[in-house]
Amino acid sequence: MEPRWSPRGPLRLPRCSACLLLLLGTAGFFQSYAVEVDVKDASNATCLYAQWMMSFLIKYETNSSDYKNATLSLSSNVTHDGSICGNDTQAALLAVQFGEGHSWSVNFTKTNETYQADFITFTYNTNDTAVFPDAKRKGPITIVVKDTMHPVQLNNVFVCHNTDSIEAENVTQFFWNLTLQAFVQNGTIGEKESRCDADTPTSAPTVLPTDANITTASTTTLSPAPTTVPKPVENPDTGNYSLKSGNKTCLLATVGLQLNVSQDKPLLININPKTTSADGTCGNTAATLRLNDGNSRFIDFTFVVKNASANVRRFYLKEVNVTLLNHINGSVILSADNNNFSKWDASLGSSYMCRKEQTLEINEGLQIHTFNLRIQPFLVKENKFSTAEECFADSDLNFLIPIAVGMALGFLIILVFISYIIGRRKSRTGYQSV
Ligand SMILES: *[C@@H]1O[C@H](CO)[C@@H](O)[C@H](O)[C@H]1NC(C)=O
Ligand SMILES: *[C@@H]1O[C@H](CO)[C@@H](O)[C@H](O)[C@H]1NC(C)=O
Ligand SMILES: *[C@@H]1O[C@H](CO)[C@@H](O)[C@H](O)[C@H]1NC(C)=O
Ligand SMILES: *[C@@H]1O[C@H](CO)[C@@H](O)[C@H](O)[C@H]1NC(C)=O
Ligand SMILES: *[C@@H]1O[C@H](CO)[C@@H](O)[C@H](O)[C@H]1NC(C)=O
Ligand SMILES: *[C@@H]1O[C@H](CO)[C@@H](O)[C@H](O)[C@H]1NC(C)=O
Ligand SMILES: *[C@@H]1O[C@H](CO)[C@@H](O)[C@H](O)[C@H]1NC(C)=O
Ligand SMILES: *[C@@H]1O[C@H](CO)[C@@H](O)[C@H](O)[C@H]1NC(C)=O
Ligand SMILES: *[C@@H]1O[C@H](CO)[C@@H](O)[C@H](O)[C@H]1NC(C)=O
Ligand SMILES: *[C@@H]1O[C@H](CO)[C@@H](O)[C@H](O)[C@H]1NC(C)=O
Ligand SMILES: *[C@@H]1O[C@H](CO)[C@@H](O)[C@H](O)[C@H]1NC(C)=O
Repeated sequence: MEPRWSPRGPLRLPRCSACLLLLLGTAGFFQSYAVEVDVKDASNATCLYAQWMMSFLIKYETNSSDYKNATLSLSSNVTHDGSICGNDTQAALLAVQFGEGHSWSVNFTKTNETYQADFITFTYNTNDTAVFPDAKRKGPITIVVKDTMHPVQLNNVFVCHNTDSIEAENVTQFFWNLTLQAFVQNGTIGEKESRCDADTPTSAPTVLPTDANITTASTTTLSPAPTTVPKPVENPDTGNYSLKSGNKTCLLATVGLQLNVSQDKPLLININPKTTSADGTCGNTAATLRLNDGNSRFIDFTFVVKNASANVRRFYLKEVNVTLLNHINGSVILSADNNNFSKWDASLGSSYMCRKEQTLEINEGLQIHTFNLRIQPFLVKENKFSTAEECFADSDLNFLIPIAVGMALGFLIILVFISYIIGRRKSRTGYQSV
């Protein structure tokens, strides 16, 4: 049962990737590789099949003691060792090795009806000077993270075109264009298909391998991905997002989000709540809501608790981190972080609300506009928002502004009128004296 492997690639990008390149204003170019793996059992039938693309965003410490983000993508020299078909008692294993000492693997377990990815093990080697030129610590670093994939029916092929990400330790792993089937029976792949939630029903049909033969399965073609969203003029739809801790809701958010990306020229992107999924972490003093819009856009909101005075505790938005990836190859288009906010402030145990549009300025190149915002990152009770503390823009005091402006204007008009009268009088006396 020698596993047969065929790292597939390079997938050359179609001619129009040049248009994307211009529109997204990214520099440089390198090919992205799709990996295809076909593990055979003793009778030479496929038992584990996968084709996917992945890349990694890794934060590492430099020799000048600050932190940098590096992108690690798969190159052509992918090798393969140690994959296992698996059975009722033993987990299946999918493993790849690439570049200068990096490796990645995931194991799968099965029940009578389903199979499921279990743990991902990723080792990156900071000795790879092409990726980590100035790493302080040189050598392999291994992280293990639980996969978030839902169980898939046995004999179904799992397909997910949209980008999914897993963040753990200092690494964010991105996966996209995934086709996968573990515990394949009779060597037949893809009789039925299971789609991930993020793939909308309108996504392009998948090119499925019709048999276990890799060479016929690899006739996949690339078409330009719809990264270049037409400029939306209308406000974004409002989405409802929540996080759970056990089976209790621990964070609630309702918000419409619009990104204003100014690279070369400004681009407004509305986040579509229908394709957006939420994850993150709850906590007693800090909580993070991470939104993945299913189009390679990731937005993290981090909230913290502060002690306003001895026994009044409040929460506020402290950090927003946005990552936009290229749809086709997963490279980072924009990664912006601002951990110096002090917005959306409300007392602990209540929710913060702002129906009017608000702007969060992440950096010169990126703003986020929020609409119909209501958020409660701490102490959610019974899956419901607690009393809202509304922002000033929403509040009734707001009517004072037009009144004040009106009064000032009125005053000005009176002033102008008086000076006009005085001026007229003066000039009239002037004429009379002639
Ligand atoms: C990804 O593709 C874009 C063009 O579509 C290119 O500018 C960029 O350098 C590529 N990056 C990677 C990591 O492949
Ligand atoms: C398995 O099939 C391949 C072609 O698909 C063939 O080259 C190889 O010899 C077969 N191996 C065994 C053990 O039957
Ligand atoms: C991860 O980042 C933290 C700082 O954010 C640092 O203290 C830690 O050493 C890093 N771990 C690795 C393995 O680089
Ligand atoms: C499962 O696979 C392992 C290793 O390939 C083998 O030793 C074991 O006998 C298999 N179990 C069953 C029930 O087939
Ligand atoms: C950090 O590493 C880079 C690349 O190896 C090297 O050029 C630079 O001199 C180093 N800086 C320090 C402070 O050691
Ligand atoms: C596999 O083949 C056996 C015997 O040919 C058949 O009974 C079984 O239904 C097949 N299983 C699948 C999933 O096609
Ligand atoms: C979001 O929640 C609000 C209040 O619970 C509800 O009125 C609204 O229909 C929800 N929107 C969606 C898109 O589910
Ligand atoms: C988008 O951001 C740019 C630069 O920060 C700004 O000039 C522009 O007014 C913003 N557009 C909108 C619609 O907010
Ligand atoms: C805030 O108050 C809590 C409980 O009253 C206390 O445990 C915590 O240490 C305080 N934190 C700060 C930064 O003062
Ligand atoms: C922002 O998010 C990216 C990707 O998830 C991550 O690599 C980066 O370290 C984050 N930055 C901060 C400061 O948290
Ligand atoms: C995924 O693959 C399909 C066809 O297999 C291709 O059209 C699409 O562009 C690919 N998407 C990405 C993000 O690579």
